[in-house]
Amino acid sequence: MQDIYILGIESSCDDTSASVIFNGKKLSNITANQEVHAKYGGVVPELASRAHQQNIVPVVQQAIEQAHIKKEQLSAIAFTRGPGLMGSLLVGTSFAKSLALGLNIPLIDVNHMQAHILAHFIEEEDCEIPPFPFICLTISGGHTQIVKVSNHFDMEILGETMDDAVGEAYDKSAKILGLPYPGGPLVDKYAQLGNPKAFLFTKPKVGDLEFSFSGLKTQFLYFIQKKEKENPNFIEENLNDICASLQYTIVEILIGKLKNAVKQTNIKHIAIAGGVSANSEIRKRLQLAEKHWGWTTYIPKFEYTTDNAAMIAITGYLKYLDKQYADVSVTAKARLKVTE
Ligand code: KG4
Ligand code: ZN
Repeated sequence: MQDIYILGIESSCDDTSASVIFNGKKLSNITANQEVHAKYGGVVPELASRAHQQNIVPVVQQAIEQAHIKKEQLSAIAFTRGPGLMGSLLVGTSFAKSLALGLNIPLIDVNHMQAHILAHFIEEEDCEIPPFPFICLTISGGHTQIVKVSNHFDMEILGETMDDAVGEAYDKSAKILGLPYPGGPLVDKYAQLGNPKAFLFTKPKVGDLEFSFSGLKTQFLYFIQKKEKENPNFIEENLNDICASLQYTIVEILIGKLKNAVKQTNIKHIAIAGGVSANSEIRKRLQLAEKHWGWTTYIPKFEYTTDNAAMIAITGYLKYLDKQYADVSVTAKARLKVTE
């Protein structure tokens, strides 16, 4: 077998990341997070692209160094073409193009949403690779989708959110509680210490495979406002229970949709992907689903849940094997469906 080294570059939102994958195995995966957004309660696009400009050269250098290779050994450069913030995408796209041209090696464009799913194909000792077809619940700050994956590049969206993404629901609710951005991991942390049945939130009534989170967010806001009027210390005194109850409702919604997808497709190989797949409760509930409903579940390593370049590099590797190269005239695309 040929020795194939792929450099992956991810810059779609607020993480600058670079990774080297060698024949399907990760050699390095370096990410520079941007702390600058925390105090604004969300990602500020202008600040994100500026930080990518500052971070991209050292991050790529570090990824190559940690892989113990020389850049001349690289077989191709893979980069995130979209979806994402245009200013952020342009930094990675331009950098990848220049490096590929300079080294005279193929350039490979990668769809960020496909990459979240294909992260499952990074060869890891303690992780099984899902067999086709499988169902993937892709849950991130920008997306909530149930995808049927029939092959590496044959994906079909079975259902998705009609409004907010689940990560957004986490982050916006966290903001209402006065927690910094991104609030998802913090809500998860406090939830683990609280009573999930302390407060009751209603689930939205939408189609079998569709999601809606904007109603839950509004319901949560009104609930907190009402309780704070009665007791100004309500959040402080009940933070764990509030987070646990919110998390319970969100995970109930997600698991319910997966059950519907299994019923409709008869596919019992279930994967999760995207930033919210780091969530402790969804992981626990999927492990229970293996026991109770005979599903086989595929849960990514934490390192591959939130945005990272290893997922871009593995997708680049799979496209390289298939000779799916990009032309240098390729441009970043802010809106890109998982099927494009
Ligand atoms: O995939 P990702 O890094 O970026 C996008 O492509 O959107 O996902 C980020 C999202 C954020 O909304 C963040 O709050 C959420 O993932 N997240 C979590 C957890 N870790 C990250 N949400 C709930 N529980 C977590 N443990
Ligand atoms: Zn993402």
